Parts: sequence; C-alpha cells; structure tokens
Amino acid sequence: MKGVILAGGLGTRLYPLTKITNKHLLPVYNQPMIYYPIKTLVEAGIKDIMIVTGGNSAGDFLKLLENGKEFGLKGLNYAYQEGEGGIAAALGLAERFAEGDKIIVVLGDNLIESSIKPFVNKFIGQKKGARIILKEVPDPERFGVPVFKAKKITAIEEKPKSPKSNYAVIGIYMYDELVFDIIKTLKPSARGELEISDVNNAYLKRGALEYDILKGWWTDAGTFDSLIKASNLVAEKPRR
Ligand code: DAU
Repeated sequence: MKGVILAGGLGTRLYPLTKITNKHLLPVYNQPMIYYPIKTLVEAGIKDIMIVTGGNSAGDFLKLLENGKEFGLKGLNYAYQEGEGGIAAALGLAERFAEGDKIIVVLGDNLIESSIKPFVNKFIGQKKGARIILKEVPDPERFGVPVFKAKKITAIEEKPKSPKSNYAVIGIYMYDELVFDIIKTLKPSARGELEISDVNNAYLKRGALEYDILKGWWTDAGTFDSLIKASNLVAEKPRR
C-alpha cells in the first residue's frame, strides 16, 4: 500500500505565520509539522510516499526532506497543487503515483499519539472500499462529523452547525483504487473546495465505508489554538 500526505492549501487560518512559508513547515514542538505524518506512515510500514504540496515555498520541502533518508526511505515523491481547490483535489494529483494500488492518505496537519498499524492491517484484509478513523472530540463542529444509526454511519456532515454526534473524522483515510473515479465526479462545496467528506459519502452510498475508533490523542494543527495544543501534546508525550 502507498501513502499520500496532503500538504497543500494556503494555511490562511495561521496568517501571518503562513505569509512566507507553508503551514506544514512550521514547528510543532521540536520538529517541522510535516515530520509527524511522515513518521505516522513509516511506523505503519508504508515506505512508498508522495507529498502533495503547493504555494510559494513548495521547494523548501525538497530542501528539508530531500529523499527521505532521515525517515529510512529510499526516496520520496512530490506533486504540486496549484491554488487551494480542496483536500480531494489535492488527492486527485496522486492518481498516477497510486498506480491502481490501495492508498492511505494523511492530512499534513494531523498528529496522533498512537500507531495506525492495526487499522492499516484491517484495511489490507478489507477486499474493497474505504476505511476512516473517528475520535470523540469536544468541538465536532470544526470537523467532518459522522451521523449514526445503530452504530452504523449513515452520513458524514462537513463542519455542521449542530453536530449529530461527538465524533470527528480524523485526517487519515484509506481508499481503494475507486477513489480517483469518485474525485472526478465531485462538485465544489459552498467554500469552493472538493471535500474529502464527499468522497467518504460516496463510499457510504456504495455500502463500502468501514470505520475504527482511535485510542490516544489526536489533533490537527491548522489554527493558533490547535498548533499550540499539538506542540504541548508532543512535548508531553515521552512523559505520558
Ligand atoms: O483535520 C481533520 C479535518 O480535516 C476533517 O475532519 C475534515 O472533514 C476535513 O475537511 C479537514 O478539515 P479542515 O477544514 O480543517 O481542513 P484544512 O482546510 O485545514 O486542510 C487540512 C489539510 O489538507 C492541510 O493541512 C493540507 C491539506 N490540503 C487542504 C486544502 C484545502 C491540501 O493539500 N490542499 C487543499 O486545497
């Protein structure tokens, strides 16, 4: 299985920190943000990785990461997203890289405490479809939120004003090769983006979306509050 890290977008919620650099190059405690999703994938046994980035400082990823030797990788693949067309648009750029394989996608600003290996193993055994990971949160309205009926997900709502559950769909997604056909059918949302929640809803309609619930902490790092929270969680990790 191949891994795709999405590190495009303009990071406007962190302006002016992101005026001259890419959000994913900012520090989270003692490392650049992009190190964490790379380590999440490598720890789960994923060695073939593409980073999709964008904006002005895209070249700095190459300077920082080179061929990924620091992470035990033989090489890294890069793609460039023009503008900010959304998470699903960024993922669409990885179609040729995926070569029909199953993929695991990690948002470049998502950090987790524990290993995703058990979920990846389940997905390896899953014949087709998609697999998402949920985490109970105090502020679900900031995220993609699952709607449940008898423990089954019936829909995923993107940033709902009145969330129907206390769970967030975290930014780690596993897809079969159909994902790229699904992306081609998407229309931009009200915020002008191709939404990853629409991809997940398309799998749901086919009855092909499975989920797991994450143990340990998870956070994004795309706002001032979550960026400092991420730094504090990482700093405390060895002591936990
Ligand atoms: O963090 C998890 C949440 O991420 C999910 O619960 C939501 O369903 C999902 O839509 C997303 O929400 P955000 O609105 O917080 O995503 P954001 O725009 O911050 O983008 C997250 C990452 O995705 C970002 O760090 C880089 C990548 N991205 C984003 C956009 C908009 C791209 O590569 N290209 C893009 O055009």
